[in-house]
Amino acid sequence: MEKTIVVTGGAGFIGSNFIYYMLNKHPYYKIICVDCLTYAGNLSTLKKALENPNFRFEKLNICDYEGIKKLFKEAKPDIVVNFAAESHVDRSIKTPEIFVDTNIKGTQNLMDVCRELEIPRFHQVSTDEVYGDLPLDRPDLFFTEKTPIHASSPYSASKAGADLLVLAYHRTYNFPATISRCSNNYGPYHFPEKLIPLMIINALHNKPLPVYGDGLNVRDWLYVEDHCKAIDMIIHDEHLGEVYNVGGHNEMSNIDIVKLILKKLKKPESLITFVEDRKGHDRRYAIDPTKIKEQLGWYPETKFADGIEKTIKWYLAHEDWWKEIISGDYKNYYEKMYGAK
Ligand code: NAD
Ligand code: TYD
Repeated sequence: MEKTIVVTGGAGFIGSNFIYYMLNKHPYYKIICVDCLTYAGNLSTLKKALENPNFRFEKLNICDYEGIKKLFKEAKPDIVVNFAAESHVDRSIKTPEIFVDTNIKGTQNLMDVCRELEIPRFHQVSTDEVYGDLPLDRPDLFFTEKTPIHASSPYSASKAGADLLVLAYHRTYNFPATISRCSNNYGPYHFPEKLIPLMIINALHNKPLPVYGDGLNVRDWLYVEDHCKAIDMIIHDEHLGEVYNVGGHNEMSNIDIVKLILKKLKKPESLITFVEDRKGHDRRYAIDPTKIKEQLGWYPETKFADGIEKTIKWYLAHEDWWKEIISGDYKNYYEKMYGAK
């Protein structure tokens, strides 16, 4: 059956991967990307999607009530999937305010429009970071959906605030929503301020690889396509008010990731530079994905060894994409594409 899906934040890393995943998996669906193109949004990422008649792009801020309402009234989406967010922990430490505006108020705004227009389904893309962190010396501990919210950074606190609002809207208004909390993603179109793309690009330029603190912090890495598959399964399932943890039991320390990237690119470990630690730096994230596996049959398809290989190859083959970002030229892409429209 044909459906219309609004994907907010679809010019960013995971949202764009989700758009390509959905256009391929559901060729009869109409996909509308809503994105205001912050520094993290890059329209050239959606170049191929823009050639697909079932796809369209709307430059809009999720905090803009009237703009969102006008679009939703006209497009009548069956599902809204909210990826739009400020997503970088280091930026949240420097400028928390925009994180509250976009991640909390933006989510509230989208939900209010959805309620008013009785949009049948809303999905909030959240993060395992809302649970805080786990100690390194307790490998037996994992985040489950019942783990208390215990955010450490302004970023994770703003995502936790949004999650609480989504659950409160479900309880108070019977708002038809679900939430997914995924671990760290990696793959194509990952913005080069985040660990894996930053290290690949610095290594290619023989620049120092800045590892925070002792480099022993652990993240649970998931190939982005497996995250997209999980969201696709959740939004096609009828259970509402549910939270699902998404992760593939793939814990790696930062230093091991950096060494692996250097090895794959045949670059020396002398490029590694230990720098001052991130403030409030979470020690370990680790997801227990039992619920989504048992209830929806989700499992991760891409092993880390294959995913990192594919990712490095993607960055080697798409220099034009990341060079445009590094030079800042991508900011002109929207003007070039849409300036005259
Ligand atoms: P990203 O920073 O790459 O992309 C965010 C996108 O949102 C950008 O295109 C940006 O232009 C857009 N955006 C920001 N503010 C907006 C606003 N006010 N209105 C409209 N668009 C706006 O982020 P990402 O890594 O793709 O993360 C997407 C979502 O997934 C976020 O909600 C994040 O919290 C969540 N998440 C990310 C990870 C990860 O590893 N990257 C893991 C779990 C969950
Ligand atoms: P990041 O990609 O920013 O994701 P998150 O903070 O959401 O997990 O960082 C992943 C890990 O890598 C985190 O422990 C911080 C560390 N890190 C570095 O050591 N150096 C860097 O330059 C960056 C960007 C991150």
